[in-house]
Amino acid sequence: MACGDCKDAWICGACGSPRVESVVCLGDQPLANGLLDDPDQTPVRYPLHLVACSSCFAVQLTRQVPPAVMFGAYPYFSSQSATMTGSARELARRLTAERDLGTGDVVLEVGSNDGYLLRWYAEEGIEAVGVDPARECAEVAAGLGIGTVVDYFGPQVADEYAGVASIVHANNVLAHVPDPATILDGIRRVLRPGGLLVIETPWLVPMINQTQFDVIYHEHRWYWSLAAFGRLCTEAGLYIIDVERLPLHGGSLRIFAVPDGAGGEIRSSVGMITALEQATGLDSPAGLVDFGERVKTRIIELTQWRKGLAAPVAGYGAAAKGTMMLSQIGPVDWVADSTPAKIGRWLPVGDIPIRDPRTLVDEMPPNCVLLAWNFADEIAGKASGYTSRGGALWTTTPVPALVEARNAIPA
Ligand code: TMP
Repeated sequence: MACGDCKDAWICGACGSPRVESVVCLGDQPLANGLLDDPDQTPVRYPLHLVACSSCFAVQLTRQVPPAVMFGAYPYFSSQSATMTGSARELARRLTAERDLGTGDVVLEVGSNDGYLLRWYAEEGIEAVGVDPARECAEVAAGLGIGTVVDYFGPQVADEYAGVASIVHANNVLAHVPDPATILDGIRRVLRPGGLLVIETPWLVPMINQTQFDVIYHEHRWYWSLAAFGRLCTEAGLYIIDVERLPLHGGSLRIFAVPDGAGGEIRSSVGMITALEQATGLDSPAGLVDFGERVKTRIIELTQWRKGLAAPVAGYGAAAKGTMMLSQIGPVDWVADSTPAKIGRWLPVGDIPIRDPRTLVDEMPPNCVLLAWNFADEIAGKASGYTSRGGALWTTTPVPALVEARNAIPA
């Protein structure tokens, strides 16, 4: 079948089945992280259509934009967020202790970004190998003493590092790649006997339950449930032994897997998450079609709410999800973001400039929409100078509400 709005055909990218249900079509959209250097540039638009496979339950976009187009000049630096680096440090320290890692061990990360995770292993004298195609990020990692293979992880990198890694991390990468089965196969080959794979990926359940439509963008080709992801792991010879829920990115899973035959007891958490997915209706496409309807209603409601805010209206967080939100509900006047590589550029929708967060206090717009709502606590703290002078900082998710000024950080 094909969509009347975006014309894309529906075939499952994971199992090839034509038994695919449309969930929601968000029309032709620019790349969410494709910031503009000049507001007169016209970004290329691609169809953005979410579907669910009735055979393997993989939830996905119909269209894969070539990775080189999306990730060539990638302005995303994980270390911009203390939430991300804090979580990474805790995980690295925990696994170093639990698995008794030291010199002689190798930890490899697929999608290592600016070294926000590997730096904590390197600090312990453990050999850390990053793999990431984004050169700007690799340069930052190099400054922390972390070597990065500036490339996509694939069979070639897997051959080079076959059998060496005590731990392989892949955080927020399995949702992005065109062919997750090949990545998982490569990871299994890189692990040494007794090695551990740790994956973090946004979870479909909170996205559905909170109607998080703004996390749907081209970089996210896949929207994983444990059930659908588990099938891929099994096919790649990986065996899921444990899973944890994380608050990151609006609700993520941390999945632990070992190569088949390595043994290991399956923790009860795996069954609990599976039960939650069944309760959310993820084992039938009907639950997802209902989500599509709720997305349409939510967009209408948020558009009305946005129009009712007194001008000027700022945004906070030039996140990819910010582009998607504003593309659907209408623009704000400008957006605050602390990332140096983003300041002075424009969002690819609505002629919206990105400014230093200090501008909020300097100009005191009466309203500011928190676009990076997944960092509400951290940003509420940083924006306390604005809110304490009477500025209204609003979140959109799960429903529009004022964000309290908490954890105030001195200016
Ligand atoms: P993300 O939700 O895709 O991770 O993007 C979050 C964006 O918000 C990113 O551009 C960095 C920005 N940001 C700030 O400007 N200040 C902050 O305190 C945090 C946590 C993020």
